[in-house]
Amino acid sequence: MSKQRILSGITPSGNSLHIGNYFGAVQPQIQLQHSAQTYYFVADLHALTTIQNREVLEKNIFEVVLDYLALGLDPEQCVLFRQSDVPAHSQLAVVLGNYISFGQMQRMHAFKDKLQKDTTVESINMGLFNYPILMAADILLYKPYGVPVGEDQRQHIELTRDIAENFNRTYNTDVFPLPEPLISQEVGKIIGTDGQRKMSKSLGNIIGIFEDEAVIRKQIMGAYTDPNRKRATDPGSVEGNTVFLYHDLINDNVDEVAELKARYQAGTVGDVEVKEKLFTAHQRMFAPARQRRAELAQDPERVKEILREGAQKAQAFAQQTLEEVYTVIGVKGV
Ligand code: TYM
Repeated sequence: MSKQRILSGITPSGNSLHIGNYFGAVQPQIQLQHSAQTYYFVADLHALTTIQNREVLEKNIFEVVLDYLALGLDPEQCVLFRQSDVPAHSQLAVVLGNYISFGQMQRMHAFKDKLQKDTTVESINMGLFNYPILMAADILLYKPYGVPVGEDQRQHIELTRDIAENFNRTYNTDVFPLPEPLISQEVGKIIGTDGQRKMSKSLGNIIGIFEDEAVIRKQIMGAYTDPNRKRATDPGSVEGNTVFLYHDLINDNVDEVAELKARYQAGTVGDVEVKEKLFTAHQRMFAPARQRRAELAQDPERVKEILREGAQKAQAFAQQTLEEVYTVIGVKGV
């Protein structure tokens, strides 16, 4: 039996990934490389909704590819490519817009959130409004069984399923299998250092992976702990305490974590020591990736070559689906 196909992507809207991206999406994606046929891509055209500066976009794309490779995506095991290198993504998006209503698009969270912040539709570009349609094209082109992502992408996958169903029903076909959202209960939504909202670059509540050590240390030191604890000698709460949440994710020394939790609850350890240990665990966990990233950064030609090869493989698959769709809708046979 052939391996199940999996697809996922990352938007290069920031210049590097944070631990929310890593635990929520990238780590599961890396694990799937071995058991599934995997397609992973950098969604550069999606980034245009916010990044409209050539130098910044070019840099972000390169940085995110470096992050992805350094963290463990293996071009021998997966197809790694750039969205804009495979024109079928844009071509299918033009088609798919016809199988979803304007009303349903208006209910998408990203659009609604933006509208709430900026209060006027005049300030929202159509790229942002159409974003979920391009994302549906990204997914459906590869007919994947599942899409490993964080919780914030669930609505997009649901919309993709709606579009696929609508399309299949309209033409009485089964061209598009319905993709499953592969979202972890435990790590699908990593909370930011403010202890409240999803970790997100735009909210400034992240812990990075590849930033300078001084930056990471500062991010960790600024993390929310137990607000009711005034002194290190007060018994503290471990539940809902972001620093312990991060310890559980990052610190491979489980005995140390158990001991810190017990001391915290007993009021025999201060926040600073708990955070120092978290910083050390972060260094330990990501040191090999940082090393690999530094080496890869010296070899941009190799990175380009990986993307070129990935694009060729992705295009071969995507083009087949596009032709199938063109035939079904009636623009191919004439
Ligand atoms: P993006 O680039 O915002 O995020 C990349 C991945 O990281 C996950 N993520 C998180 N997971 C857990 N906790 C968090 N705090 C957290 N923050 C981010 C995201 O859910 C995502 O899986 N629209 C997508 C990119 C995309 C895509 C696609 C994904 C474009 N086309 C097709 C899958 C399939 C995005 O902007 O993700």
